[in-house]
Amino acid sequence: MAILARSYNLAFHHEVDDAVTQVPEVADSVFPVHLCAVEDVAEGAAIGIEKELSGEQHAFIVTCADGQIHAYHNVCPHAGRRLDWAPGRFLLKDRVLVCAAHGASFRIESGLCTGGPCQGDHLARVGIEIENDEVLLTGL
Ligand code: FES
Repeated sequence: MAILARSYNLAFHHEVDDAVTQVPEVADSVFPVHLCAVEDVAEGAAIGIEKELSGEQHAFIVTCADGQIHAYHNVCPHAGRRLDWAPGRFLLKDRVLVCAAHGASFRIESGLCTGGPCQGDHLARVGIEIENDEVLLTGL
């Protein structure tokens, strides 16, 4: 718990981009897009991936729970902010990912918000496939 509290302090002292993040449209023809290797995502962890698609920058969260890979837009359903407190750095404990902006808590296996200002909402899941131990983005 002390580690999480210290992380909160870091989060609230970190400059968070004030711009609300929108998810631009991307043509289906750009997919599949390589996100990472399966081995890059440890059990219970979350990593951040940045990709330029059709000339627009996109941010994703890739997680692993019970050996299953999940991927979401790095956009909080509360106010549209990124969830990381620094690029690719997330507040995460016991499979709960906490948004650095206002503290909403999300289960990494479902994206369900279980506490905070958008309780009951979900992170927006993106389509992925696993091929040859690589995680491929197949749609937004
Ligand atoms: S933007 Fe994530 S909790 Fe407000």
